[in-house]
Amino acid sequence: MQSAFPAVQSASPYFDEARSADVVNARMSDDADPRLKQVMSVLVRHLHAAIKEIEPTHEEWFAAIRFLTETGQMCTDWRQEYILLSDILGVSMLVDAINHRRPSGATPNTILGPFYVADAPEYSNGTNICLDEKGEPMVVEGRVTDIEGNPIPNAKLEVWQTNDDGFYDVQQKGVQPDSNMRGVFTSDADGRYWFRSVKPRHYPIPSDGPVGKLLGAMGRHPNRAAHLHFIVTAPGFDPVITHIFTPDCPYLPEDAVFGVKRELIAEFNKIDDADAAKRVGFSSPFWSVSWDFTLATSGNLHRQNT
Ligand code: BEZ
Ligand code: FE
Repeated sequence: MQSAFPAVQSASPYFDEARSADVVNARMSDDADPRLKQVMSVLVRHLHAAIKEIEPTHEEWFAAIRFLTETGQMCTDWRQEYILLSDILGVSMLVDAINHRRPSGATPNTILGPFYVADAPEYSNGTNICLDEKGEPMVVEGRVTDIEGNPIPNAKLEVWQTNDDGFYDVQQKGVQPDSNMRGVFTSDADGRYWFRSVKPRHYPIPSDGPVGKLLGAMGRHPNRAAHLHFIVTAPGFDPVITHIFTPDCPYLPEDAVFGVKRELIAEFNKIDDADAAKRVGFSSPFWSVSWDFTLATSGNLHRQNT
């Protein structure tokens, strides 16, 4: 016998546990933006699947809501706790990887991090960006080339790192000199650049908020492996946002934000030679790092889903 309520039997609009995600997604209008529709329906499907697997109590669900509320309340113009959450869950690096699938041989991308400052001072090659005279002296030199190894002159290299106490200048305004440990260099006619600084140290990401508490509760530490940040840009090439890491840092395999890629671990050579030190304006010993950046031409990226 035919039901008096055929729609109820085939696809009921009313909530039931088994079909919960389908019931919610069926409400989406045909007029909704197609990308929004795709994103929201995938999110609803995965969120409902997670809830079904976890089976949270009301108290647990409320604790999750409280965590998200506190995460939002921690955000200011200076502090983005949601990005930090995305960082420690590996989502920032995943989004970055999806959007920077470069040809083999090109320098890999990484996340930017919260301590980049646009318009840092522009320096001539060889300038020392360490203005507080703390730490072990280091020279970084190398070339910017294309994938075929041709030099890229006039590439802009923005570099920033913490000082030897493990803080960026912007975290210690009035304590560190302005623009300490950051600067902008330009590659020469052979694509060469060089600058002086100090060997980077590992340091903790900001951990005084809900994300830090979550890390602690999961038995994870907040430390980032010792690194320098770079943005390298040149007209006609895909800009590279990246890091280079010291090879001897104990936190390499457990960087708090999953920023380490094997190809970005550099060699740091300790040079104990008074003449070599004199040539670069240091006293012996000092650290020497040779690092080349390889840029892919613009538009040479691909996304799997488009
Ligand atoms: C950083 O490397 O500066 C950083 C990256 C992600 C979160 C916090 C700090
Ligand atoms: Fe950093």
